[in-house]
Amino acid sequence: MHRTVICPGSFDPVTLGHIDIITRASQLFDRVIVGVFVNRDKTVSFSVEERIDFLNRTIGHLPNVEIVGFEGLLAEYARECGATAVCKGLRAVSDFEYEFQMALANRKLNPDLDTVFLTADAQYTYLSSSIVKNIASFGGDISGFVPACIHDEIKNRFSSQ
Ligand code: PNS
Repeated sequence: MHRTVICPGSFDPVTLGHIDIITRASQLFDRVIVGVFVNRDKTVSFSVEERIDFLNRTIGHLPNVEIVGFEGLLAEYARECGATAVCKGLRAVSDFEYEFQMALANRKLNPDLDTVFLTADAQYTYLSSSIVKNIASFGGDISGFVPACIHDEIKNRFSSQ
């Protein structure tokens, strides 16, 4: 059976932690849709187009991965594209409550949609887009946190602040 999974997120910007999860999902599922979705609880630093471009440049080479932007409900999008699973990374227990709530809400909206969690690689358990932006805003070194090919663009976005 052909299995499609969605890796959703804000990806503002994509980090090495995201890339690790997406790469591992691409080994577990036939087709992976990386969805840049809107999180109305967050203020973003990069446009959807920029975030998609960053993702294309870092994981665009993976043969079974597609990158899309979508402004709407994840549960609805999953129905539209035939995805039966959502894949998310869990970094720590603190992620669990929020992710558990979203997984249950998504399943209520779309009973055919399951959520699977991959444990973050130990070296990325502290890493988030917010941490990257915070460090960059103080002119700190973000080279260990984001892919080299997008490093300068992220750094430059915050250099004037
Ligand atoms: O990287 P994030 O910000 O933690 O990802 C959260 C995201 C974008 C996956 C979540 O906010 C989402 O699914 N947004 C789409 C709208 C939606 O479906 N909202 C209901 C979630 S239960």
